[in-house]
Amino acid sequence: MRFLSFLAIMLSIGMGVLMITFSAPEGGQLQNEAPEKPIRLPEPRYDSATSVEKALLQRRSIRNYAAKSLTLAEVSQLLWAAQGITESGEGLRTAPSAGALYPLEVYVAAGNVQDLAAGLYHYRPGAHELQKIAAGDVRQALSSAALGQDCVEEGAAVFVISAVYERTARKYGDRSSRYVPMEAGHAAQNIYLQATALNLGTVVAGAFRDDAVKRAMGLPVEEEPLYLMPVGHPEK
Ligand SMILES: Cc1cc2nc3c(=O)[nH]c(=O)nc-3n(C[C@H](O)[C@H](O)[C@H](O)COP(=O)(O)O)c2cc1C
Repeated sequence: MRFLSFLAIMLSIGMGVLMITFSAPEGGQLQNEAPEKPIRLPEPRYDSATSVEKALLQRRSIRNYAAKSLTLAEVSQLLWAAQGITESGEGLRTAPSAGALYPLEVYVAAGNVQDLAAGLYHYRPGAHELQKIAAGDVRQALSSAALGQDCVEEGAAVFVISAVYERTARKYGDRSSRYVPMEAGHAAQNIYLQATALNLGTVVAGAFRDDAVKRAMGLPVEEEPLYLMPVGHPEK
């Protein structure tokens, strides 16, 4: 009987220790590592009062932004313009892709976006949603990686176009070194024209240290950043 009580006490002490061990990381690293639920983006619009001709005429690189937030609907529209799905059967997108192999990835470094906490988000075209990758504002880190360009820090959000060259190289070999940057250009021009139609401003920044951008974003080794595009309301 005494042995059973001893066993019960030892068991409850053991359970206590286990409970402490498992609950210790509360609010700490383990919780941060668990992926958050993806953020479903508002449905993009497929029409507007701005013609393609007007957007082409008005497109300009804008580097000075007002301290005004973007809406989640604007972010959604810009992401759709960059890489959104336009033909669900084969998953074809707004921008052309050699062999429809889609080597590009698009990220949003949000700093001043309504209903989107400051952080780094990955765009998933299939479900038109954002997956949070990291909390916290990385615009300043991206700006210093971009040789201190102020515009990168001052946009309400920075859209980053990166690429996994291997997806294209598997079929096209060395030709991928031409095809992939061409595709980034298509996606970037779509963002330019969409921003113009939304009365927003953007600029492509290609001048940056690749390794510093990769570090700031925690990009996988096989992924190369190609363009940083700060977006904001043009300063009047
Ligand atoms: C490949 C490429 C890289 C660029 N890199 C930068 C850059 O790092 N920073 C910047 O402010 N503008 C950059 N630009 C934007 C050009 O400066 C801009 O397109 C040019 O001045 C013409 O102006 P517009 O775009 O208003 O027609 C880049 C443009 C291209 C095509």
